[in-house]
Amino acid sequence: MEKLKVMIVFGTRPEGIKMAPIIKELKKRDNIESVICITAQHREMLDQVLHIFDIKPDYDLNIFEPGQSLTKITTRALDGLEEVIIKEKPDVLLVQGDTTTVFSGALAAFYQGVKVGHVEAGLRSGNIHSPYPEEANRMLTGILTEYHFAPTQRNKENLIKENYPEDKIFITGNTVIDALKYVINEDYEFDLSLLNSLDYENKRIILMTSHRRENIGKPMENIFSAVNDIVNKYEDVELVFPVHLNPKVRSIAGGILGNNPRVHLIEPLDYEPFTNLMNKVHIVVTDSGGLQEEAPTLGKPVLVVREETERPEGIEAGTAKLVGTDYNSIYENLELLLSNKEEYENMAKAVNPYGDGYASKRIVDIILYKNEKN
Ligand code: UD1
Ligand code: UDP
Repeated sequence: MEKLKVMIVFGTRPEGIKMAPIIKELKKRDNIESVICITAQHREMLDQVLHIFDIKPDYDLNIFEPGQSLTKITTRALDGLEEVIIKEKPDVLLVQGDTTTVFSGALAAFYQGVKVGHVEAGLRSGNIHSPYPEEANRMLTGILTEYHFAPTQRNKENLIKENYPEDKIFITGNTVIDALKYVINEDYEFDLSLLNSLDYENKRIILMTSHRRENIGKPMENIFSAVNDIVNKYEDVELVFPVHLNPKVRSIAGGILGNNPRVHLIEPLDYEPFTNLMNKVHIVVTDSGGLQEEAPTLGKPVLVVREETERPEGIEAGTAKLVGTDYNSIYENLELLLSNKEEYENMAKAVNPYGDGYASKRIVDIILYKNEKN
């Protein structure tokens, strides 16, 4: 029997995390040959993910360079991917999410006449400038896509509004929930001694991440100052902030949060310690996409420090709140959660609007069904 050849392309930390369960599922199937190609738009942050999920790429384009422009990432990924696609001739190429690697992967496949499967399709903030450039990447990728794997009903509706044919859209859930199932362990012990020494019972720990391009500058200064002032106001509150490797983020973080003894600025964590830390903390503050999906699943209140979100499901479910990037709004919303028990309890409930942990299986089944050979 001729095998179906599926090429998987990814380049950054979150794509790696969300592709990992799909790769595991593809490898289980006898009638599929999978080829893994990483652009390595991220380097250390992606290598952490490869290590945790034991993924060995067949191709590593190694395009990483510190601080390179969007154009450079796009063109270098496109160039490298073209060569691999021509050599491997896959039947289907999978991309995940909304990064520049995703758009380049979809375009490179399209140029070679290869069918594109877009995992995490149909997310829309409604503002092409925010998140930047992700909203544009999603829309550009959509145009080039044959199979739209939409995590939720709402994501499907977004695509239908843009006139995509319904028979090419599949609601699958988000594979991040599949990934989360691999790693959460109630008795988890950290390698980093600081994280074992924190008093999760008697202190209220805030976990923060922030990296969005449109937040770099004044919005990020507002976020970090508001959180810093809240830590100073409540003696039992501490902050853990694994700082993204983007030097612009690191410089703002160091300047505002660097000298507070109850603020712990640490290096980006591996996925396993990171999610287990999230499982233990009191509140999450973030501008990340993936955290907006993980925190509700783990029952953690999450304040989303962005002006809009493409993930309204967590907000509707009551665990996430979109608080923007104004200092006062962030400060007041944190204060409310820390001083009003009822408000906290209302948000701290486990809900699962993003999937049931079987998204990867569905995605692989659909690809096989749609491409039956022999
Ligand atoms: C990228 C994606 C964003 C995604 C985010 C996840 C684009 C344009 N942006 O943003 O959608 O949400 O990844 O984290 O595709 N760096 C390192 N080592 C690493 C990774 C990053 O040093 O392993 C530093 C480099 O200086 C790099 C900078 O961070 O230039 C920014 O990386 P880049 O991939 O351009 O954008 P992100 O902000 O990480
Ligand atoms: N994450 C991680 N270590 C960290 C911070 C985040 O493993 O120090 C994980 C997190 O659990 C989530 C993903 O990285 O699955 C989110 O990545 P990021 O915030 O960089 O990107 P986004 O989701 O915003 O695209």
